[in-house]
Amino acid sequence: MDALVHLLQLLVLLLTLPLHLMALLGYWQPLCKSYFPYLMAVLAEKTNHMMESKKRELFSQIKELKGPSGKVALLELGCGTGANFQFYPAGCRVTCLDPNPHFEKFLKKSMAQNKHLQYERFVVAAGEDMRELADGSMDVVVCTLVLCSVQSPERVLQEVRRVLRPGGVLFFLEHVAEPRGSWAFMWQRALEPTWKHIGDGCLLTRETWRDLEKARFSEVQIERHPPPLKWLPVGPHIMGKAVK
Ligand SMILES: C[S@@+](CC[C@H](N)C(=O)[O-])C[C@H]1O[C@@H](n2cnc3c(N)ncnc32)[C@H](O)[C@@H]1O
Repeated sequence: MDALVHLLQLLVLLLTLPLHLMALLGYWQPLCKSYFPYLMAVLAEKTNHMMESKKRELFSQIKELKGPSGKVALLELGCGTGANFQFYPAGCRVTCLDPNPHFEKFLKKSMAQNKHLQYERFVVAAGEDMRELADGSMDVVVCTLVLCSVQSPERVLQEVRRVLRPGGVLFFLEHVAEPRGSWAFMWQRALEPTWKHIGDGCLLTRETWRDLEKARFSEVQIERHPPPLKWLPVGPHIMGKAVK
């Protein structure tokens, strides 16, 4: 199986050689950072359409997590275009964080369309280092389709635990690897080195549930769902919550 994966990887690499050469020379990354928000604006709408009932079910729990101010302080980690805003209960105080500043234009549009929320600020930073956010300052952290792209899921989850107050909750929805040994997993491995460049660092074969289980939350609930967009190599989704 390994030999076949390497052969397929080589084949895909040859077919997409200009992309890999640009990445090697450092031209691809800046280009990707500017077009990715446009791509996400289209994909997020499709994902929201397909996952609407699941997202509603997951985020309906947020209203029970009000802090001492009587409002929910919510961190949208890897906020992208702000695709989740429509699902949050009125009055949430939302802080957005993303390392890609090109999302700001799309975020502003989502904010204008979702006036039921109170927006605090947009922090341009990676989840691995959220030093701008104080310890225990959030009631809720939301992370959807982000842990596939971060450099270190372990460090991000450590930071999430730091910024959550005791009893605060991380809600997640992430795509993960297909079962090891399956044909679908083989294709994910074959496509991953190229997909990573197209999807701004997105890895197809992450087993993110393992990181969540290891992250020292007091309680972790995980549900598994089939991939919403069947024509993409993106695998099953895991959805749930982790309580600090
Ligand atoms: C596939 S998009 C998902 C966006 C949004 N959460 C959604 O569900 O539509 C992945 C997002 O993660 C962000 N991201 C990438 N690396 C990150 C990191 N290290 N920390 C936080 N966000 C990151 C990207 O900039 C992008 O906005």
